[in-house]
Amino acid sequence: MVDKKILGPLALGIVIVAGYFGLANMQGNTDQKLSIKMPELSETAQAGARAFGQSCAACHGKDAGGTDQGPPLIHPIYNPGHHSDQSFFLAAQNGVRAHHWNFGNMPALRHVSPRVISDIVAYIREVQRANGIVTQKHKM
Ligand code: HEC
Repeated sequence: MVDKKILGPLALGIVIVAGYFGLANMQGNTDQKLSIKMPELSETAQAGARAFGQSCAACHGKDAGGTDQGPPLIHPIYNPGHHSDQSFFLAAQNGVRAHHWNFGNMPALRHVSPRVISDIVAYIREVQRANGIVTQKHKM
């Protein structure tokens, strides 16, 4: 027989565990491929995060963790030594021909101004650093 005294804590435990799995499940339902550690963002990076959400997240993922449509930007390939800030401005201006992945080409996004791209770059770099992605010499 189950001791009545443990029923309360047991029920609470079940609620907590169920809640945890519910949450894990919800996160699993976003399309994002990698789980990204989100640091406290500077104001510029927060503006960048909003712009990213509007213009880039559909392909690159909510926290730039990648989707079926595009690669994660929080990835060693995109460390500042291999993809300088300039590559972000060029990507929006000209689009990107598929060369690192098999997602196809990135279209040009000329409606996203350089001003906004610089906020997005601040955002990506801060999140990269929080996830251990730092400048490496270009050797790829
Ligand atoms: C329609 C999907 C799509 C959208 C929207 C999109 N991208 Fe991309 N992006 C891609 C794909 C796919 C690649 C990978 C191309 C490859 O290297 O194979 C890519 C690559 C990149 C790269 C790497 C460029 C390089 O030189 O290799 C950068 C930087 C980038 N995207 C930034 C952005 C930013 C910033 C936004 C929002 C303003 C954005 N992307 C929106 C699909 C997208």
